[in-house]
Amino acid sequence: MLPCTQKIAELPFKPKGVILSGGPYSVYEANAPHVDPALFELGVPILGICYGLQELAWHHGKNVLAGEKHEYGHAYLTIERHSESEEHIDRLFKGMEKEMEVWMSHGDKLSKLPDNFHPIASTSNAPFAGIASTSKPYFGIQFHPEVTHTPKGKQVISNFAIEICKARPDWTMEKFVDKEIERIRVMVGKKGQVIGAVSGGVDSTVAAKLMQEAIGDRFHAVLVDNGVMRLDEARTVKETLTQHLGINLTVIDASDLFLGRLKGISDPEKKRKIIGNTFIEVFQNQAKEIAKAAANTPQAGDIEWLLQGTLYPDVIESVSFKGPSATIKTHHNVGGLLEGMHLKLIEPLRELFKDEVRALGTNLGIPEDLVWRHPFPGPGIAIRILGEVTPEQVRIAREADKIFIDEIQAAGLYRKISQAFAALLPVKAVGVMGDKRVHDQVIALRAVETIDFMTADWYPFDGQFLKRVSRRIVNEVNGVVRVLYDVTSKPPGTIEME
Ligand code: XMP
Repeated sequence: MLPCTQKIAELPFKPKGVILSGGPYSVYEANAPHVDPALFELGVPILGICYGLQELAWHHGKNVLAGEKHEYGHAYLTIERHSESEEHIDRLFKGMEKEMEVWMSHGDKLSKLPDNFHPIASTSNAPFAGIASTSKPYFGIQFHPEVTHTPKGKQVISNFAIEICKARPDWTMEKFVDKEIERIRVMVGKKGQVIGAVSGGVDSTVAAKLMQEAIGDRFHAVLVDNGVMRLDEARTVKETLTQHLGINLTVIDASDLFLGRLKGISDPEKKRKIIGNTFIEVFQNQAKEIAKAAANTPQAGDIEWLLQGTLYPDVIESVSFKGPSATIKTHHNVGGLLEGMHLKLIEPLRELFKDEVRALGTNLGIPEDLVWRHPFPGPGIAIRILGEVTPEQVRIAREADKIFIDEIQAAGLYRKISQAFAALLPVKAVGVMGDKRVHDQVIALRAVETIDFMTADWYPFDGQFLKRVSRRIVNEVNGVVRVLYDVTSKPPGTIEME
């Protein structure tokens, strides 16, 4: 993955083919990014997707215009077949049916076919939804083959890579594991030591297990219990990581410190800052302790490395043609904040997407429950308790969340739902319990389905399920009198409530 402005003369390797991806610009705009024209001298196959198609057309005669309307959503693509003499231009859709469902998202369109290009596919709204050069292995498609809403999109990408570029599909998880373990061993050396924070989430656990496989106890995992993790989380994470996965783990119970600093704070961003800064402080102190102890072990050297669970989407975010994006998540920046330790970063997951991290986790023997866990935010339950975070509020939110998640699991819905939790609202409501009138707290349940967490839809539970969860929470969690279900999509809502 390189920025589109990459100078072809400075390519670090000779590619077998090039995919020009989509992007938010219009090729005819003054500030639009363009590829180095030398790309078209490279003599390798090119596939342009969306903006990439338009860039391809722009280079071949500037035939791109703003469309009358933005096309966004499902469309039916009709694939054109050519005569035998022109069969080579049909290779992109080899083995595919004449019609397929695709996902479109564009405002601009081709006004006219570039010279020496043929249409290879169309939709009712886009006569040039697919084009191919008659003389060179250049292809362009207006739809997005890379999204799940284009069910046969993988086949299109595979046809390009294997049929057209002649690349061999020899990447397997087993080979990745072996190569990565070897790479870590060489990088860290025979005595080098690595430290890294774990949270109980998928990414940090998989990264930690990979380090443990590579260098054993010279990897030091640290779990900071911030007092706002899920019910019983610190204990269960410790059990899984140490007993099941054999990871060298130190757990620091800093609950009192975190909750003390959160006292009286209701502003969501202030809560995030306090938790983030306190985490760095606690982790840093612990890192120094571990480094001191490590310095006394004759068979190992100093701690020189910091493990980070960076995934490929974070890397993509930083490969913008404008330079590294400013929006990389702050928790991925702890390295620079470990003052005085001058740690180098080690990022074994940086070439993987989330589904590949899960496959890697399974390959490394991490329990399925953990591999398929819903994401949990760094600031934890603190941003699910709207208003002030007190130990009593933490108890209520945790107990309600546990019941909700247990019921989701019992109903076999856990994997279908992308993220679910209980939040505690900062209001009180009236109810009758027994014969008494009570004035107590309100729990809001949230469950969403999403692919990328950028947009999300609330999960349509059946009424009996909600009834069961509500009854259990009101009966079993002291201090709760009502349960609500959040039916807001993202956007306009966010997944978390703060
Ligand atoms: P939102 O609420 O922005 O959430 O729709 C999208 C995803 O990000 C997670 N999230 C966070 N994760 N620190 C984190 O580590 C945070 O401050 C934070 N805020 C939201 C959220 O749980 C969801 O998966």
